[in-house]
Amino acid sequence: MATGAFPCFLLSLTLVSIQSQSSTQDAFMIQYLQRRLVQIEERMNQCEQNTMTVTQKTYDLSSAVRGYVSSLNVLKSEVRNQVDTVSMRVDRIERELEYLENKIPILSDIEMEEALLEEQIKAAELDQLKKKAKIKINRDCNTALSQIKSVKIVKKAGDAHGSWFKDPSEGSEKVYFLSGIRNNTVLEYMSLQSFIEGTPMRPAKVLQLPFHWQGNGHVVYNKFLYYHKANTPNQILKVDLLNGTVVDSTLIPGAGRHPVYDLNPNTYLDFAVDELGLWVIHVDTAYEENLVITKLDKATLSVDYTWDTRCRSRDAEGAFLICGTLYVVYNTRYGGRSTVQCLYDIHDTIHSEESPVMFFPKRYTSHSSIHYHPGDKELYAWDDGYQTIYKVETSTIVTE
Ligand SMILES: *[C@@H]1O[C@H](CO)[C@@H](O)[C@H](O)[C@H]1NC(C)=O
Ligand SMILES: *[C@@H]1O[C@H](CO)[C@@H](O)[C@H](O)[C@H]1NC(C)=O
Repeated sequence: MATGAFPCFLLSLTLVSIQSQSSTQDAFMIQYLQRRLVQIEERMNQCEQNTMTVTQKTYDLSSAVRGYVSSLNVLKSEVRNQVDTVSMRVDRIERELEYLENKIPILSDIEMEEALLEEQIKAAELDQLKKKAKIKINRDCNTALSQIKSVKIVKKAGDAHGSWFKDPSEGSEKVYFLSGIRNNTVLEYMSLQSFIEGTPMRPAKVLQLPFHWQGNGHVVYNKFLYYHKANTPNQILKVDLLNGTVVDSTLIPGAGRHPVYDLNPNTYLDFAVDELGLWVIHVDTAYEENLVITKLDKATLSVDYTWDTRCRSRDAEGAFLICGTLYVVYNTRYGGRSTVQCLYDIHDTIHSEESPVMFFPKRYTSHSSIHYHPGDKELYAWDDGYQTIYKVETSTIVTE
């Protein structure tokens, strides 16, 4: 503003000196000039005023711009911070991925292990096939069940659940009585006759087992009792009945997670004796709850071979084997007429589809155990506390 006022002041001084020398003629001229000067001064003032406004506006604008710039800077740093966190997270994810990738074994390792496993499976299968072939060759019976002919109710004794049978080994007449789903007392009778006549129970011998049994699946074969040891999922014991000592014990692989028969929830391992020897029937849940049969070496309890059958556990109440063929007995939860509806032949000569449903004699039944006696061709059954014997009829399998 000071620079604008100084030239205006000089100009007015000059005009004053000119006025003092002039004549009256010039008075008009001077007045005119003075008016012009005032006008100029006014315009200069205006000009100054404008300059000031512009300066102010410029200042205001620039401070506004500064404000914007600083808030922009704030935004920028915020964005940068966010970018930093995102990149940090990306880094972390990448590290985790790397860690996981390191933990996953290399593909070729897996392939190698698979190949090894396959080899082992093949070897095991070959081994089993050899054993199976041996059983086939050793087959010296060719009978099949054709019907369940008659029933004889022998006695009513013991609990609702239990099992009884005659030792199926040749020449033995001894009868055994095991009442209840969990106990350790075995009653031994000299013969079926003495069992029938006993009033009410007068056994020749009372044997105390070293361990309780579980379920109703036990058998006696040649003076040895084979049974499922209570409180174990799948341990079986072989006990010498002469002095009550455990002579052998083993575990049945894959068994014990599920009762064998849907309608008998306490039996997890069911033993059977047929013309070929000793068997265990159980369920492997890995095979859709179908029955599995395992051939045991009765001397050493080692597993000869295992067959997965296509017979279902659902609605089954028992099963027995005749000449290597499993016959599964079905019923209803409320008791009814038992029927054989599924069979499985390890030799693959008799087929379930071609075989008719076989009915048990007309009677309402609820079997907790069924045991076949190969010599007498009889089934020893425990039917809701009644000890019953079924006579069966067999036929000879004609093979080409
Ligand atoms: C065990 O069996 C014997 C003989 O059958 C019987 O007298 C006894 O009551 C049974 N014990 C239990 C706990 O069921
Ligand atoms: C029981 O009898 C068998 C023979 O049948 C014998 O080997 C075993 O030593 C006997 N055990 C006891 C404890 O007497």
